[in-house]
Amino acid sequence: MELTLTLDPQAEHPLHRQLYEELRQAILSGRLSPRQKLPSTRSLAQSLGISRTTVTQSYDQLLSEGYLEARHGSGTFVCAQLPDDLLHSAPAETAPHSVKSSIHLSSYGQRLAEKPFALQAEPQVPISFRYGRPSFQHFPLEVWRKLLLRHSRANIQWLDYASNPQGEYELREAIARYITRARAVQCDPEHILITNGTQQALDLILRVLLEPGEAIALEDPGYLSARRIFLSHNAHLIPIPVDESGLVVSHLASIQVPTIRLVYVTPSHQFPTGATLSLARRLELLSWAHRTGALVLEDDYDSEYRYGDRPIPALQGLDPGHSVIYIGTFSKVLFPSLRIGYLVLPPELAPLMAHAKWLSDRQLSTLDQRVLADFINEGHLESHIRRMRSHYNSRRQTLVHALKQHFGDRVTILGEKAGIHLMVHFSLPLTETDIIQKAAQAGVGLMPARVHCLQVESHCNFILGYSELDEATIERGIHLLAQTLL
Ligand SMILES: Cc1ncc(COP(=O)(O)O)c(C=O)c1O
Repeated sequence: MELTLTLDPQAEHPLHRQLYEELRQAILSGRLSPRQKLPSTRSLAQSLGISRTTVTQSYDQLLSEGYLEARHGSGTFVCAQLPDDLLHSAPAETAPHSVKSSIHLSSYGQRLAEKPFALQAEPQVPISFRYGRPSFQHFPLEVWRKLLLRHSRANIQWLDYASNPQGEYELREAIARYITRARAVQCDPEHILITNGTQQALDLILRVLLEPGEAIALEDPGYLSARRIFLSHNAHLIPIPVDESGLVVSHLASIQVPTIRLVYVTPSHQFPTGATLSLARRLELLSWAHRTGALVLEDDYDSEYRYGDRPIPALQGLDPGHSVIYIGTFSKVLFPSLRIGYLVLPPELAPLMAHAKWLSDRQLSTLDQRVLADFINEGHLESHIRRMRSHYNSRRQTLVHALKQHFGDRVTILGEKAGIHLMVHFSLPLTETDIIQKAAQAGVGLMPARVHCLQVESHCNFILGYSELDEATIERGIHLLAQTLL
């Protein structure tokens, strides 16, 4: 590889950070092209006269941010799927993120330009433990198709603009009944706002409730896509550590300055560690919120999937003081392209948030909302969840068993009691990059957890999704992994 890299040992930033920046800029400017192979960590370290650990750290960061990928075959490559717009907006030798200088950007636009959009690269290998999707194979397409037909024929009013930006009333009623029953959420359809998934819900919340520069506390590690939204609004991020009982609320409560306005949590199934926020901590969090006037954003993204014991009731149901905004989504229980999520809001906020929603995108598809309302009211949602819980449970058990069988005490498994992914830590004499590369060479895709970390260190922690793989494939994948790593 012909690439000039200049590192300065005297510079303010450490060498691994400088190398990371140099490589990232080379990728963005096109000096390194998609699919181009990078030198091994050993040979790059030798040619630059730096330690291999330094090179490994930079590669790890670029891998986890999606600039590089470890591919089936051998070695590390520039990601094949870098978004075109990202590459084209970065002409060679200019600042990597600069949009044409003649175009004036708002401060929001500038913040987006500083952190160009890139999805985390997903492994392109035969057995990928990628996470974040339900199993599409088991979706009741026939039922959905019938409901679509029924509603598209019934009344052509669905072609019109919606009369209420909060979302279709039938859907809000159906959701209210469902989450009261299944999640012990206290709610009234009047206080529900249908959103374009969790993503839009968080964006609207930030617009309406947080001034740029004001503080939002968030779990560390925590959900990267939420953090990106907070940053886009120039929120002051306050990372709060997480342990086996979830968010460490005493840490949050010890912060006096700055004033924390919002706290974002995943109490039922902490993302990505899988911890459940204990009852004591839930009560402590609510009491802190009442005392300080902060609002708690409860992201309840996949709590329907709990194995062995009953689903944990939502935090919102414990809160008599309207300090919690509950955020639900159908992305995990149905399918993500549906783009239907919902907020359960404190009553005084509901009209304001509906106004913000209308300004943002006016409405969601009426047809989809009606179909979903019937899907819930006719019992299809809950029977689908019951069926899927059993499938996922079997896949989960297979994965846990295979990991323990092959890796013994060299693997630590976290968060396996709920959701559709788990987290593992491998204690092996290998770096994270080595593990990813070797796995890819064996045809197995692993995704590191570090992209979700803000201040906490993450080494050799991986998030393993199992919802899309059948039992035999899971067993084969872990067997191949053990063969190549041990
Ligand atoms: C923590 C968390 N919240 C929410 C979501 C769902 O987001 P959306 O509803 O925008 O699809 C995900 C999806 O991966 C998630 O991991």
